[in-house]
This record gives sequence, structure tokens and C-alpha cells, in this order.
Amino acid sequence: MKIAIGADHAGFRLKNLIKDHFKEHSFVDVGTHSEDSCDYPDFAQLVGEEVAAGRADAGIVICGTGIGISISANKVKGIRAALCTNEFMAEMSRRHNNANVLALGARVIGDDLALRIVKVWLNTGFDGGRHERRVEKITKIELSH
Ligand code: RB5
Repeated sequence: MKIAIGADHAGFRLKNLIKDHFKEHSFVDVGTHSEDSCDYPDFAQLVGEEVAAGRADAGIVICGTGIGISISANKVKGIRAALCTNEFMAEMSRRHNNANVLALGARVIGDDLALRIVKVWLNTGFDGGRHERRVEKITKIELSH
């Protein structure tokens, strides 16, 4: 799978850990590339645009809490970014919400849990069925604003 990944300074270390851990996937790393202070919306936008344009199959965004970068990613048309703090949320965000971007808070969860969340998220598909209708309604809201 081709994954667009981006983080601010708070998520920089975890971003590298994820890239090192999931060697079976290819990553488009949009930055940041150091622990120097930077602004999370910049990287959320870049990841969101990669996914929305179909240049990546999925996206991962990381900041300190995961909140700012998930809010930002969700501003890109077509993006359904899910902030997940456990494996159940990761599974459900794929099965029920068809999330196409995973958001993580590097200051909220430990490395081991983060890697387990990513693994579940990447390996779970959309259930479709009644959830399809609900996801379509999300898109309708987006298109009406
Ligand atoms: C940066 O200090 C921090 O505000 C950012 O990483 C994130 O947590 C914002 O939501």
C-alpha cells in the first residue's frame, strides 16, 4: 500500500518509527523532517491532498495530541481523518467510517500502542452495507458547504 505520512515536530519521531516498522508498505513522507518547531496544518494539508487526489491509498498524520492535525486533514475535501487512541477505534474507523486518514497523538499514546493501532488500521477494510449510506451522508454535508 502507498501511504502518505506527515507530522509536526511533536510527531516527527513517531513518524520515523512507523516508516521503519512497516517496511512492506511504501511511504510518501511529506515532512516535517526535524524536531524544529513547525505548524501541523501544513503537513495535514499535504497528506490530505495526496490521499484526496488518489496519489496515495491512505494517509497517516501525527501531532502531539492528534487533534490539530486531524481537524486540519478533515478540511481537505474527500478526507475522513480519524483520531484513534486504541485498536478498537482504529478497527471501527475503517469498518464503519471508511476513514482514509489515520491521526495519532504522539504525546498521548506510547510507541507500542501506536504501532498496534497502525497495524489494525492498515489491515481492516470497510464493511459497506448500511455504513455506505452514512458515509455518503458525510460527503453530502461536505459538498453542501
Ligand atoms: C505542538 O506543540 C502541538 O500543539 C501540536 O503538536 C498538536 O498537539 C496540536 O493539536
